[in-house]
Amino acid sequence: MSEKLAIHGGPKAKTTPNYPMYPGGLEIGEEEKKQLFEVIDRKYLFRYYGPEQYPSKVRELEERFTEKAGATYALAVNSCTSALITSLVACGVGPGHEVIVSGYTFFASCAAIVAAKAIPVIAEVDETLTIDPDDIEKKITSSTKALLVVHMRGIPCDMDRIMDIAKKHNLKVIEDVAQACGGTYKGQFLGTFGDCGCYSFQYHKIITAGEGGMVVTNDKKLYDRSMGYHDTAACWRPDRFAEERYEGELFCGVNFRMSEITGAVMLAQFSKLDSLLELMRRNQRRIIQGIKDTKGISLRPVHDPEGDVAVCLMFYLDGKEKVLPFVEALKAEGIDASGVFNAGIPDWHIYAHWKHVIEKKTPTSEGCPWTCPYHAGDDVEYSADMNPNTLEYLSRVVHIDIPSQLSLEDCDMIVKGINKVAAELA
Ligand SMILES: Cc1ncc(COP(=O)(O)O)c(C=O)c1O
Repeated sequence: MSEKLAIHGGPKAKTTPNYPMYPGGLEIGEEEKKQLFEVIDRKYLFRYYGPEQYPSKVRELEERFTEKAGATYALAVNSCTSALITSLVACGVGPGHEVIVSGYTFFASCAAIVAAKAIPVIAEVDETLTIDPDDIEKKITSSTKALLVVHMRGIPCDMDRIMDIAKKHNLKVIEDVAQACGGTYKGQFLGTFGDCGCYSFQYHKIITAGEGGMVVTNDKKLYDRSMGYHDTAACWRPDRFAEERYEGELFCGVNFRMSEITGAVMLAQFSKLDSLLELMRRNQRRIIQGIKDTKGISLRPVHDPEGDVAVCLMFYLDGKEKVLPFVEALKAEGIDASGVFNAGIPDWHIYAHWKHVIEKKTPTSEGCPWTCPYHAGDDVEYSADMNPNTLEYLSRVVHIDIPSQLSLEDCDMIVKGINKVAAELA
C-alpha cells in the first residue's frame, strides 16, 4: 500500500527547506566582493576610461566569454532584451520585416522584435517546449527576415532543422539563450549556431549581476554594427571620427553599455558557471533516475540531453485536469512545483497572455510596426488561441526548479514525493 499523501494528512516526503531559483545569485560572496572593490578602489567604473587607465573588467568578461563559447566576438550589454534588440538591428531587421518567435518564451523575446520596429509572428512549440520547426516553415512569408529561437527552460532547440530552414529561406537566426547559458547542442555552445546569440545575467538566471547581457557572433560586420548600436554612435570605434569603412557601419544607436560594476560581479560569477552547471546536472540526473519509469508521467523530450543546463525538470501528465491536483499534492509534500498554463495565474512566458501584442498596443496612435507601409502581404493577426498545440502541451506540464543548492538527499526526497503523488493522482 502506498503511503498516505501529505495533502490527506500523511507525512511529508520532503522535510528540508526549499531554495529559490537563483543559482548564481545565492553564491554571491567573497569573489564578487573582491572584483567589485577593485573597480571601486580604482574609481574605474566606465569600461572605456577613468582617472587612471586600468584593464576593463567588461572587456575581460567579453574575452572569457568568447573563449568559453568558441565564438569570435562577444559584446557585453546591460540586459538580454538589449542584446536581442541589438542583434536584430545588427542583422538588418527593421520596418516591414516579420520575425518568427516561439510562443513559449519570456515576453521580452517578442517585445525586442517590436522595439526593433519589426512584426513578431508567433509560432507553436512542440513537445520539447521549444519552437516547432514544422510550424516555422508554415509561417514563413515573403516578409520574413529572421527567426528568434529560444532555448527554453534550459534545453536546446532543434538547431539542425532550424539552421536548414534558415539557409533554405535565407533568414537570419538569433538565439535567445537567456535561460540556457552554458548549454550545448551536439557539443557546440548554444548561441553560436545562428548569426547572434543573446544571454541574460538578470538575477533569476544561472549566473547574475542583477542585470546584464551578452551578444555573441562570429561575424565581424554584425559585431561592428552591434558595437555601434549599443554605444549611441560607435563612439568607441578605434577611430571614432573616421569615415565609415563600409555602408551600414554607422547609424544612430542607443546606450546599452555594461558598467564596470556589472562586469566585475560577472567576472566572479562567470568563474562559477561550470560548477553550478555540474551541480544542477547532477541533481537533475538523480531525480530523473528515480522517476523515469514512473507510471502516468512522461518527461519532456530533449533534442540533446547532454546539452541541457538542467535548471528544471518538466514532465507531462496525460490529462490537463490532473495537473492542479498533482501540483497541490506535491506542494503539500514539501516540493516546490507549479503548473504552467492552468495555474490560474497569467504566466508571461505564454503568448496567450501577451495582451500588448495580441491587441497590438503601441506607445503612439500610428500603430507602428503593425501599420508599417513597408510591410508587404497580409496583416499579421493574433489571438489567444492561435497556437493550440502550445497551449495543449503547456496545460499538461508540471514544472519543478532544480536549484544548484539542493543536496542529493533533497533530490531523493523529491523523487519520493513525485512517486508518492503519481501513484495516486497521475
Ligand atoms: C527567454 C528569455 N528571453 C529574454 C529575457 C530577458 O532578459 P533580461 O531581463 O536580461 O532583459 C528573459 C528573462 O527573463 C528570458 O527568460
